[in-house]
Amino acid sequence: MTAPRRPALDVISHSPEQTLRIGTQLGRVLGQGSLVLLGGMIGAGKTTFAQGLARGLRVTTEMLSPTFTLVTEHDGTDAHERAVRIYHIDLYRIEEAEEVLSFGFEEYLDDQSAITIIEWPERARGLLPPEYIMIELATVADTKRSITIDPHGERYRLAIETLRRELAGARG
Ligand SMILES: Nc1ncnc2c1ncn2[C@@H]1O[C@H](COP(=O)(O)OP(=O)(O)O)[C@@H](O)[C@H]1O
Ligand SMILES: [Mg+2]
Repeated sequence: MTAPRRPALDVISHSPEQTLRIGTQLGRVLGQGSLVLLGGMIGAGKTTFAQGLARGLRVTTEMLSPTFTLVTEHDGTDAHERAVRIYHIDLYRIEEAEEVLSFGFEEYLDDQSAITIIEWPERARGLLPPEYIMIELATVADTKRSITIDPHGERYRLAIETLRRELAGARG
């Protein structure tokens, strides 16, 4: 029997700034080799959340929506003060999983010294490793978004529990 899983972390964001801040808090607890998947429709806040992750990882270059380039690379610092490369991948324009292979997608995922952030991860179904943090964003109202943070894999458990405590503390 596997240990019972903690429920996913559910938060509501009321502004782009708040989404950025939640992303920043998660970014601060990520280590090398982390994979973060960002799901949700257009305008849900995936790129905003990714920009928060970048801020938490102390990236100084601007992280824009890499819609036309598929991948942008940034330099940051992880939770253990290690220099880390960050890949921001947006699969929006990918139609077939096979297309993903044509730009070296697997090499990015294999880079265990980096942190990889993927928007529209469902477009790479079947090519993703079994362990990742799934962030699901959904538009509730004009400036209101629901954010679900679900760690898949033991390696992310501690990071997410730290985040859970921080977010609970911020509310109290
Ligand atoms: N609470 C919120 N969190 C994130 N974005 C929000 C929020 N409220 C409004 N927005 C707006 O929604 C849009 C989100 O865009 P973006 O982050 O690029 O989404 P995606 O990458 O999912 O398409 C931005 O224009 C942002 O200003
Ligand atoms: Mg986007």
